[in-house]
Amino acid sequence: MKEQLIEVFQSRYQQQPTASYFAPGRVNLIGEHIDYNGGLVMPCAITAGTWLLLAPNSDSVIRFKSVNFEEEAIIPIAKSYKKTGTEWYNYPLGVFHELQQLDWNATGLDLLFFGNIPIGAGLSSSASIEVLTAFALNDYFNLNHDKLELVKLSKSVENNFIGLNSGIMDQFAIAFGEADKALVLNCYTLKYKVVDCDLGDYQLAIINTNKTRKLEESKYNERFAQCGTALAALQQEINIHNLCELTAEKFALHSHLITDETILKRATHVVKENDRVHLAAKALNMGELEEFGRLMYASHQSLKELYEVSGKELDTVVDFCSGYEQVIGARMTGAGFGGCAIALLKKGYEEDFAKQLTDYYVTEVGYPAVIYIHQIGDGVKAV
Ligand code: GLA
Repeated sequence: MKEQLIEVFQSRYQQQPTASYFAPGRVNLIGEHIDYNGGLVMPCAITAGTWLLLAPNSDSVIRFKSVNFEEEAIIPIAKSYKKTGTEWYNYPLGVFHELQQLDWNATGLDLLFFGNIPIGAGLSSSASIEVLTAFALNDYFNLNHDKLELVKLSKSVENNFIGLNSGIMDQFAIAFGEADKALVLNCYTLKYKVVDCDLGDYQLAIINTNKTRKLEESKYNERFAQCGTALAALQQEINIHNLCELTAEKFALHSHLITDETILKRATHVVKENDRVHLAAKALNMGELEEFGRLMYASHQSLKELYEVSGKELDTVVDFCSGYEQVIGARMTGAGFGGCAIALLKKGYEEDFAKQLTDYYVTEVGYPAVIYIHQIGDGVKAV
């Protein structure tokens, strides 16, 4: 990969790159729409990701080029930047902006990006490019920010520069992920455990529904706001900072404070999903994969019925999985509204599963889904 990218860099910039970096994508095993509610999530980094090669220039501009996109940008060094349009380079540009707000003075740079994470598919291609750029600039210019600071800065790009009220899970998983491990992250305290993700005879299949969506245009921010409304209603009686401080039992005692039926459904999902993550972490630790799989199905059901962020495409995949004997658990992963599902698939059944699922999906949805088997990989690093 790196050799090919070096050639592309040379031909586009007529100079050699002087450094290169990689950041993965992520899947979330369970704990969906929980991070911005201060609860527990269980993501892991995957081996697909984004690469960045760079070299200084003496023209006082930042050149953004990508192997994946035709659009490129040449942006003069300035003290601050604004998002312009929806082009991909707004994500790394946002990182320059945030770092410069911390008193860093950028100098001319030629940048080349390449990614093999499907874009807009719920595997965090945007968080990957943010963390990648933040990590690379921090390392290359010795800016001395630790990884957690870079995670927070990347989240701030997403929230303030791009305009999506996402939580911290994606950036965190991409920065701190480790091969063959899942993270159990408390999104309120930001304390986390690295746990063995030993799936025994099973493996993680990722199914891309090929239904893409732009998160900031979707209902994501609406869900974020609805959780805020639920929290405010509960705070009339109880002193909590976020919905995930409540167990299902405690929630039941106070849920009458939420009078709007839709808001109640959203809050019920959040509280019960958070409880499921505790159970799932225990199940994984004990090697009880069937229980883990059962919790995955329950998570999906709740995201479909209560949080209403699934959709025909994701439901079709999960319905198929629940009738396929060699899958013990499946659910949508990430924000939803399209994008990817994950399944625990018995090893050796990759081909049969892909064929049968594709046939079923095409009949139901009208176009094919794509199935990937990625390993659980490392977080961001120099390569
Ligand atoms: C997106 C966001 C995350 C998280 C998930 C849903 O991936 O970027 O912060 O909220 O959706 O769990």
